[in-house]
Amino acid sequence: MYDITLIPGDGIGLEVTESMKKVVETAGVEINWEEMIAGEKVIDKYKTPLPEYVIESIKKNKIAIKGPITTPVGKGFRSVNVALRKELNLYANVRPIKSFDGIKSRYSDIDFTIIRENTEDLYAGIEHKIGDYAGESIKLITRDASERIVDFACKYTKDNDYKRLSCVHKANIMKISDGLFLKVFDEICNKNGITRDGEDIYCDDVIVDAAAMNLVLNPELFNVLVMPNLYGDILSDLGAGLVGGLGIIPSANIGKDYAIFEAVHGSAPQIAGKGIANPTAIIQSAVMMLRYIGEHKAAILIENGLKKIFKEGKVITVDLGGNASTKEFTDELCRIIKNSI
Ligand code: NAI
Repeated sequence: MYDITLIPGDGIGLEVTESMKKVVETAGVEINWEEMIAGEKVIDKYKTPLPEYVIESIKKNKIAIKGPITTPVGKGFRSVNVALRKELNLYANVRPIKSFDGIKSRYSDIDFTIIRENTEDLYAGIEHKIGDYAGESIKLITRDASERIVDFACKYTKDNDYKRLSCVHKANIMKISDGLFLKVFDEICNKNGITRDGEDIYCDDVIVDAAAMNLVLNPELFNVLVMPNLYGDILSDLGAGLVGGLGIIPSANIGKDYAIFEAVHGSAPQIAGKGIANPTAIIQSAVMMLRYIGEHKAAILIENGLKKIFKEGKVITVDLGGNASTKEFTDELCRIIKNSI
């Protein structure tokens, strides 16, 4: 029995996390979900969308899975996601991009992962005005943060039996900041036994603009891509677009002590409460979480169930062109999983 913090979140969050819980239970993993309310519902009471008790629960359990949280526009709250990342030092954002047979998208057979440094670069918030005629944002790249993200990427590449690890950068122009990232990349890859001329596993580097073009032209040539924050933010959404959009893509924010798994999509207020949301993204996030805690058998069961349901194409949610409700999709997925146990 695992203790895991569950933040259902706002909008469709409740519907998709209910579905996810049922699927994980069907796959045979017993979890004591510690449900924590954050987001819109608690703002009036606690004057923040992220009360301290939510952070305390994650610090206690070490692992959390969360639904989307509405970011109130213009009310001055910092984004819950950014706050959690900072508070828990979740330095690695991991986004696997995989295509499913049966989901209409530009490509089939895509399987790569973007690993984005989550704590610095232009997102460090070092900004200032220069009078009223200029604004300046500082791009900060440190050796420590670069070392730990590249080390994480090396281990991820090996653990998942990928062949190629690519560093995405713009060191030809930003010779000092991205130059340091690239230099550290080679050092840490070497320490992990991954070299540029390796046979079974190798590393290389790609300039970010060329990476954007090649991800669109030949995405199947990539395996694992590691990069500073800003490039990761942009290319991970590009990746989602290659395989059918944000509705199916999972992600993980991982640090030394804690990990939070979450769907990439938002709270979709237009369809909230209608029972038609697609729970695939949060279910795939749960698959990542199960792998993280070592429940590989259950992870494979769920992943194969998803492959089957999409390939058959009979019980598909509205966003992917079908007419199944969240409940019908969940029940069918659970039936497939039960049959394969
Ligand atoms: P969104 O992802 O909620 O919606 C974009 C479009 O995709 C809408 O048409 C929506 O109906 C559809 N969609 C999204 N997820 C779906 C699902 N699982 N099944 C079926 N259709 C789905 O993005 P939007 O509208 O920009 O943001 C809405 C709210 O969510 C905002 O308050 C935003 O701040 C918040 N948000 C929260 C995130 C998080 O907590 N991780 C991430 C992105 C947005």
